[in-house]
Amino acid sequence: MPKLSADFLQKWSIRSRLAITHAIVTILILLVVTLFMYWALLNSLQKENYQFLSNEIKIIQGLLQKSTAENPLDKLKQEIIWEPTILQHTHYRYYCRLLNSSGNVIMETPGINTLTRANNLLSLANTRLLQSNQNYTWKATRYHYYLMATKIKNDTGEDYILQVILFSKQQVGLLRDYQRALVIVLILGGLLAALTSAFIARESIAPLQKILETTRLISTKKLHQRIDPTAWPKELTLLAISFNEMLDRIQRGYEQLTQFSEDLAHELRTPINNLMLTTEIALSQPRSITYYQNILTSNLEEYNNLSRMINNMLFLARSDNDQIKLQYTQFDARQILFNICEFLEIIAQEKNMQLSIEGQAIISADLSLFKQVINNIIINAIYYSHPDSLIKIIIQQNQYQTIINVQDSGIGIAPAHLAKIFDRFYRTDAARAQNTGGTGLGLAIAKSIMNLHHGSIEVISKLYQGTTVRLSFPNSNSID
Ligand SMILES: Nc1ncnc2c1ncn2[C@@H]1O[C@H](COP(=O)(O)OP(=O)(O)OP(=O)(O)O)[C@@H](O)[C@H]1O
Ligand SMILES: [Mg+2]
Repeated sequence: MPKLSADFLQKWSIRSRLAITHAIVTILILLVVTLFMYWALLNSLQKENYQFLSNEIKIIQGLLQKSTAENPLDKLKQEIIWEPTILQHTHYRYYCRLLNSSGNVIMETPGINTLTRANNLLSLANTRLLQSNQNYTWKATRYHYYLMATKIKNDTGEDYILQVILFSKQQVGLLRDYQRALVIVLILGGLLAALTSAFIARESIAPLQKILETTRLISTKKLHQRIDPTAWPKELTLLAISFNEMLDRIQRGYEQLTQFSEDLAHELRTPINNLMLTTEIALSQPRSITYYQNILTSNLEEYNNLSRMINNMLFLARSDNDQIKLQYTQFDARQILFNICEFLEIIAQEKNMQLSIEGQAIISADLSLFKQVINNIIINAIYYSHPDSLIKIIIQQNQYQTIINVQDSGIGIAPAHLAKIFDRFYRTDAARAQNTGGTGLGLAIAKSIMNLHHGSIEVISKLYQGTTVRLSFPNSNSID
């Protein structure tokens, strides 16, 4: 059942839902107000009518009790027979009847017997009155009649029953007019409520419609399109801001992707052109075996570079898609760094550079990825440092993390480049001038390895003074 109502609601647009709810609530309020007004009028009329009847009873009761007064019967006749008769042709009519304790009529307003329904009710009340005590007064209102009956005792102790009926044509007309007016108010109010609700719903939903139009305009060629959050109602400002932020991310991603494809094509073009050129030259005329051997050796080097680049790109793609599963092991970081330095010593010695290691720590990480990231960073330090300089590797460990600083005193990186060196294929001109055969993927790989370990990589550098790369691995007990 709840599923059914949810499906049913889902088919209704927000606009229809808003309009219908608003219209129903307005009509309900209108209904309550009109009913209350009708009730208030009826209540005040009833009060007034009963007041009139009880005044009449009081007067007759007074006359009955003053049996010693002059001509009490005349006065009673005047009150019960003459006075109501005079009013009988006006809009306001009332009738009285005096009965003795046995229920026999003593005196009554002429015409009272024609009021059958009222008399039926009164005769029913009589039985109750006769059984009741002295003070009981019965009252009722039916078919526009107001009835009141009471038991009266005179000075001599005799019981009487006094009945009074009031009928006001004017009040009936007034109530009917009022009812008609209220029905008209309800119908017109309902129509007005429906119209205003439709209008309000349309206006409230208008901003969403505009968002929809803007989103429709957005395509890969128009990714710069944004929504102006200040133009939206308060509730939608956050939506507009989040939407713009999402567009920023998509645009950045899209631009990076475009840039990446462009760089990739560019990086592949040069080695492949070189390979084609050398092969074409070799084939242009018969050559000696030594010539062919030299060409193949130099081509092999180019193939190696290409294969390294493709492997690096594959690694990055797999890392982006969360396809790399880490094999955590605990190892002595100093020992591993020592092994890597020993291996890299050959390149370092070419530039007469020294490598030193300070500190020690037991680290928990994927060993092969750890080696790869350290390798990338130390090779950078060797490539981009001056000959005869020293590269310091400092290991620090605290409660939460193990930090490895690789510090060189090389060419440094200008602040303008610092933010971009982690981008794929990004290389500074100074680095290109070194002719290292690098492709600008080393730091991108280092960053993705550090991300895989939930760690971080930070580069602090001063142009012409040197660079420190800070790798931070969380300790195994602080990884969740
Ligand atoms: N220690 C450093 N000193 C000065 N510049 C550096 C240093 N490390 C990195 N860079 C700069 O950052 C750029 C990006 O480095 P990255 O390791 O990603 O690429 P690469 O070394 O040029 O090529 P690859 O590592 O793919 O062989 C380098 O080209 C260089 O401009
Ligand atoms: Mg590098």
